Amino acid sequence: MSAQQAKRRIGVLISGRGSNMVSLIEATRSGELDAEVALVLSDVAEAPGLQKAQELGVEARAIVPQRFRTKLTGDDAQLYATALKEAGVELVCLAGFMRIVKDPLLAAFPQRILNIHPSLLPSFPGLNAQEQAWSYGVKHSGCTVHFVDDTLDGGAIILQRVVPVLDEDTAETLSARILAEEHRLYPEAVGLILSGRYKVEERRVARL
Ligand code: GRF
Repeated sequence: MSAQQAKRRIGVLISGRGSNMVSLIEATRSGELDAEVALVLSDVAEAPGLQKAQELGVEARAIVPQRFRTKLTGDDAQLYATALKEAGVELVCLAGFMRIVKDPLLAAFPQRILNIHPSLLPSFPGLNAQEQAWSYGVKHSGCTVHFVDDTLDGGAIILQRVVPVLDEDTAETLSARILAEEHRLYPEAVGLILSGRYKVEERRVARL
């Protein structure tokens, strides 16, 4: 290799608009993140984020799973693993990817798949987390970056950020403030993982 070291390579998986994907790409371009987004994959052919990635000069394509609607497993998961490995990816970021990731993709990237979720986990996992939090009446919500395991939003937490719920909030205004925080938190968490300074805490209690 030349004196100039190759950049660490990240893959991003999306299903929709891809604003967190864009924030990760921008963080690599601004130098906040010393890495590059090498490949964007989507399980939805029409995901608007695919075009955004291409416009930013990032390789992006759909791999539409043939089986199941809510999980990525078996041969479908293998296609993702192969594409990411061929692109030289070492870290996979789920960013609005609406499927539970299973083996063989999980096994191909042990402790190397992250997700961002718009609540303070373990509160409000699953869909519409911002609306769940707002309807419940909590005074603080936020966002979480965590490792992915084969449970729904259940892997070890890496970083969280708190967003206060204001009296005048609607689910929409709360979602918008959480999203702005997500765009700061995800690049920070990715940088932490790539730095090797993050250790999963032993005191984490096994989940029932
Ligand atoms: C974000 O709120 C993220 O936390 C959740 O799905 C949403 C994706 O938004 N997992 P975007 O596609 O990144 O704009």
